[in-house]
Amino acid sequence: MATPPPPTLIRRLLPRGLLARSVLIIVMPLLVVQVVALQLFYGSHWEVVSRRLAMSVAGDLATVTGLMERFPDEEDRGWIFAAALVNSELVLSFDPRAQLPSPPDNMPERDLARAIAEQLNLPVIISHADSRTVRIDLQLRTGVLTAEVPRKRLFTGTVYLFWLWLIGSSALLFAIAALFMRNQVKPIRRLAVAAEAFGMGREVGPIKPEGAVEVRQAATAFNLMQARVRRFLAQRTEMLAGVSHDLRTPLTRMRLALAMLPGRTADAEEIAELTDDVVEMERMIEAYLSFARGEGSEQTEAVDLAQMAEEMAQRARRDGALVEVAVPAITMRLRPDAMRRALANLIDNARRHGKRIALSAAWVSRPGGTAVEIAVDDDGPGIPPTRREEAFRPFVRLTEVAGTGSTGGTGLGLAIARDIVRAHGGEIFLEDGPLGGLRARIRLPV
Ligand SMILES: Nc1ncnc2c1ncn2[C@@H]1O[C@H](COP(=O)(O)OP(=O)(O)OP(=O)(O)O)[C@@H](O)[C@H]1O
Ligand SMILES: [Mg+2]
Repeated sequence: MATPPPPTLIRRLLPRGLLARSVLIIVMPLLVVQVVALQLFYGSHWEVVSRRLAMSVAGDLATVTGLMERFPDEEDRGWIFAAALVNSELVLSFDPRAQLPSPPDNMPERDLARAIAEQLNLPVIISHADSRTVRIDLQLRTGVLTAEVPRKRLFTGTVYLFWLWLIGSSALLFAIAALFMRNQVKPIRRLAVAAEAFGMGREVGPIKPEGAVEVRQAATAFNLMQARVRRFLAQRTEMLAGVSHDLRTPLTRMRLALAMLPGRTADAEEIAELTDDVVEMERMIEAYLSFARGEGSEQTEAVDLAQMAEEMAQRARRDGALVEVAVPAITMRLRPDAMRRALANLIDNARRHGKRIALSAAWVSRPGGTAVEIAVDDDGPGIPPTRREEAFRPFVRLTEVAGTGSTGGTGLGLAIARDIVRAHGGEIFLEDGPLGGLRARIRLPV
């Protein structure tokens, strides 16, 4: 089976479920629109507000320097600074005769620097005293005025609202979308489960059409298909049973008539040959009949594979075969009689063509999910790859069993086994086995 190409990064990041995908499709664009809208609105609003705040701080500083110029005495500084502290939250200090160094290149608070330049036009150095205070050093004619301003006077406190709104509204949206989409996805999921079970040959009643129109349509179509497939299967088995049954009566009559023929020596050999042919035809029909009888009605049930394999091995050992069993405890839903018939046919072949037989089973994982594989190996001559497909065809016998001059069979074993396995949604393969002979491998989805 071809492996799918490795998924790209985007595909790996995207959720795989329909529910998650549809919720994402709803939430993502809204989130983007919100971020863009809020950025446009809040970004400009924010700028205006922080510029105004800087202007107000600069204005307060201008008032202070104005007062200091009008009342230059040292005693007056006390009440000026006190008033600034009470009215404007400015902590002021003055260092006469001090000289500001040249300002650093990248000063913080560009809006504030610009506002001070506009209103005071004095050399200034702005720095962050600590995380909550901005320090402003102003060069006056007589010295350096240092002001410490609480940062909250320069910032709007509404940024968190922005995030609160964004996260809150998307969470709400997500919840509502998930709630509604879940109900939309549920019928699709139910349909998928039903189709899968039907594919594995399990009994699924008609499913109730619900959900969106398209989903209802799919459910109705599935129900119709299911009914048609079941009708077709029933017809086929009925026809098979009918034909086999009708043939059995004349055949029995022929065999009895042959047995009654007066045993003239000249004809004895021909009569024996004819009798053999009739007996073989009867056997073929028996096989068909038992096949047709079993298939129609049997229901699936939980079966322990290890136990089933051991039973089959016991039966083969009673018939004189050397059988090894390596089947772990696996419980799965099967039609037990049908599966036993399929396995019996494979074991029968292995016994007929080889001396040693091995039964094994294992879990395997494959792209579509997990499966159980059961293998029947023998140490016989095997079947060349080119003839394996042919071996599955009904009534095809490839080789004679060594030394007996007969194949011992009707050529139906593999055809029936494949039919049964496929009715379980599985597949059967013939390949080279580890014992040197043929391996018949059954793969059953679970
Ligand atoms: N394990 C095997 N090793 C070698 N050849 C095999 C093996 N199994 C099947 N074959 C070949 O495939 C042919 C078809 O097998 P199939 O089981 O369908 O029919 P059959 O065994 O001849 O008859 P039946 O199973 O109806 O009694 C056989 O005639 C045989 O030649
Ligand atoms: Mg066979």
